[in-house]
Formats: sequence, structure tokens, C-alpha cells
Amino acid sequence: NLPEKGSFTWSSPSNIALVKYWGKKENQIPANPSISFTLNNCKTTTTVSFTKKERKDNFSFEVYLDNEKKDDFKPKIETFFKRILPHLSFLKDYHFKIETSNTFPHSSGIASSASGMSALAACLMSIEKELNSEITDEYFIKKVSFLARLGSGSACRSLEGDIVVWGKHDEIEESSDLFGVNYPFKVHQNFKNYNDTILLVDKGEKQVSSTVGHNLMHNHPFAEQRFAQAHKNLSTLINVFKTGDLKSFIEIVESEALTLHAMMMTSMPYFILMKPNTLEIINKIWAYRKETNSKVCFTLDAGANVHVLYPENETESVLEFINNELVAYCQNGHYICDRIGFGAKLI
Ligand code: PMV
Repeated sequence: NLPEKGSFTWSSPSNIALVKYWGKKENQIPANPSISFTLNNCKTTTTVSFTKKERKDNFSFEVYLDNEKKDDFKPKIETFFKRILPHLSFLKDYHFKIETSNTFPHSSGIASSASGMSALAACLMSIEKELNSEITDEYFIKKVSFLARLGSGSACRSLEGDIVVWGKHDEIEESSDLFGVNYPFKVHQNFKNYNDTILLVDKGEKQVSSTVGHNLMHNHPFAEQRFAQAHKNLSTLINVFKTGDLKSFIEIVESEALTLHAMMMTSMPYFILMKPNTLEIINKIWAYRKETNSKVCFTLDAGANVHVLYPENETESVLEFINNELVAYCQNGHYICDRIGFGAKLI
């Protein structure tokens, strides 16, 4: 007795990795554990409306971004539906209308896959919950993360917050390769309301997709050392979060960002996603830190944009620094102020 129709709306944020996920095995299993700050302002809101249909031999759905039909999103969602079909029984029983919007500009170079896939997974899981009232809150959120992972790996880190671990790590008992979990240990006050100002260096589509990048870690000459390093960096971060040691935090986070890009530069084929302005900004941040004793640092995703991370007590001074010295390197002077947040919400 499936309901005839209904709809659910979720909003889900993006996240920024501190220890990076780069390289995966079959079924979106990460080659190494990663850890991220959940963001607060960069998010996707998605409504999934479902109506029962007669024929059950195919997926049936339509996709809208900002009220505009988006047929070019369909192949990615079709692939996602195929992957999650074994885990959600009702996918072929309904026609779905998927309506989505982002708080950040679509072509900003900010990946919407983490926020988008996690919001969509949450909507679908809400339907599952309507069909099975025995689903607990704890199971619900784990399964949303599990499903989101099958859409885009890093999406599984967007459901909770403010710090999420994905991938099995020896010292974090609850960690799993299958879904993200809230960071379970003590976090020092220094990391409360941590800021992430995203400098939009290049808003264009990136030349190499992360899927291709992950795959180039197979047979990569430095793969094994890199995966071991990620385990070690996550171990060190546990102590950093406990003690509030921002100097060590900076070392790990910046090294992780540069290592991610070093992996791209040393794969075969090799590629570079940083732009000249990315390097200008990094050098400016280093110079500013030397002059001022600031604890500002940078990290990078698989693109040219720079995430500027800094503690709450430096909000005013670092924003002034960004406005005076870094905005010039942003495309059209564009940047987005965000900070650490707490995950997805049912609306
Ligand atoms: O989720 P994917 O497959 O788009 O991979 C994203 C990988 C990085 O953003 C580069 C790093 C990470 O851990 O988020």
C-alpha cells in the first residue's frame, strides 16, 4: 500500500575537506579516510515530489534548477538511481519531479555535487521512511549518507556536522567506508564557528572531472605513500582538535591541499587545476601570516578556487586582509563568506 503521491524538501550544505579524499575503489569506497568541515551557507535545497505510476520497468523523473528544466542533469541522476536501486525499493514505482536551487551561483566553480546529492538522497530517504515507520533517526541519517556516497563520494560528509569523518580509520571506531560519521572526539574552542571564505578564482567548468582524477590514482606512482599519509594526518588532527594547536592545524591542512594537487600533477596523464591567481593568493596568505602572527590558512578542492580558513576571533582582521589584498585575484572580485555548520535539514 504505497501512498499515491507526496513531496519532501531538504536543504543540505557543501563541505570542505581538511584531509582529502582522492582515489577510490569499486562502489565508491574511498582509498583513504577523509575529514571535513561541514559548511553553513553554501547549500542546495531540493524538493522531490512523487506520484505513483503504472509501468514499473524504468526510472521516470524530471529535473529543474531554479525552475528551469535541466535535461543535462538527467544522466548523472539516472546513474545515481541505478546505483541506489538495490537499497531503495520504490524507485521504479513513482514518477519524480526534482526541483533544486543553490545558495551559491551555479557557475561559480563551487561543486554542487556534495550539497546536491546529499539533499536528493535525504528526500528519497524521507519517502522510504514514509513506507517504513520503524526507521530510527540514527539509521535514517546513516542511510542518507550511504546513499549520498553513491551519488558523489564527498556528499556523504554533508549530512551532519560540524566535523565529519568518512572512511575507516584505526583510531575512530565508529568510522566507516560506507558513510560519514560525526567526529566523535573532543574539539577545542579554537575551532568553534571557524570561518571559510571561498575566493572564486575561476568560475569556469574544470577541465578534468573528479571522477577522472580519482581513477588516475590507480597505478599512480605515489598512491600508497599518499594513502598512508592521509591516515597519519588524520591521526595527528585528532590531537590538534583536542589541544587547539592551530599551528599544526595549518601545517596539515595546507600540506593536504598541496598534496592533492601534487597527485594531479604527477598522475599519467598529468594535469593542473590551479591558476596563476591561486598561487598569488597562497603567497599573499603566507606573507600575511609571517607579518601578523595570524592563524589564517588555505585549502583547495579539485579546482582553482581558494578556501581561506580562519578562527572566529580573526573574522574582522582577515576579512579586511581579503578585501585589501586578495579580492583583486578573484574573478569579478567575487568571494563567498561561509563558516562551519551542522548539516542537512528537513524543511
Ligand atoms: O566527491 P567527489 O568524487 O567529487 O570528490 C571530491 C574530492 C575532493 O573534493 C577533491 C576532496 C574531498 O575530500 O572533498
